Amino acid sequence: MPTVAVFNGSLRRDSINRKFAESIAKLAGDRLTFRFVEIGDLPLYNDDLWQDPPASVLRMKREIEAADAVLFVTPEYNRSYTPAIKNAIDWGTRPWGKNSWEAKPSAIIGATPGTTGTAAGQNALKGLLTVVDTVLMGQPEVYFTYKPELFDAENNVADESTKAFLNRWIDRFAKWIERTSEPKTTAQAGPR
Ligand code: FNR
Repeated sequence: MPTVAVFNGSLRRDSINRKFAESIAKLAGDRLTFRFVEIGDLPLYNDDLWQDPPASVLRMKREIEAADAVLFVTPEYNRSYTPAIKNAIDWGTRPWGKNSWEAKPSAIIGATPGTTGTAAGQNALKGLLTVVDTVLMGQPEVYFTYKPELFDAENNVADESTKAFLNRWIDRFAKWIERTSEPKTTAQAGPR
């Protein structure tokens, strides 16, 4: 089964984006294996740190490279994605020539308590995911207004129309991974 490295842009304990992603992980369990990647322990990007690379950075790069695809789950902060995501993406592109994101099938989802469902934040992230050379799925978009009543006590999706919508997204992403996966090239390029 394809593995998906999942990056949650919120570092807070009670993140609705984390809960949302965990619900989708359960729903997708027969089609995709989600592996949540810790990004809260990455230092703020500093090129000097490559002289003695932080263990958290090397661990994250290994987790990206081991996965068949990557999924970004982003809250919307002031009409953009979160700094934790930008920081993780920047670390992944370095050192020069060792871009861990290269050719990874990717997707973005996100949840807010409000009605805009992270649309602006996700749209800001789309360009970046293309620049770092992931292969981004364009549709279906998941701009999710998070309501606790859509989930049960075990964090399964309880609402039938939400479940059907998310199942369609999971099927599309699984197909996208199958269709766009390619062997890694030997010369891994990245943005300058
Ligand atoms: C927000 N929030 C927010 N929501 C939104 O729909 N559009 C926005 O532009 C913003 N901007 C914003 C900035 C900052 C700095 C914070 C902390 C929050 C609210 C946000 O959607 C809400 O706090 C979510 O619960 C954050 O996601 P997690 O942490 O629950 O996953």
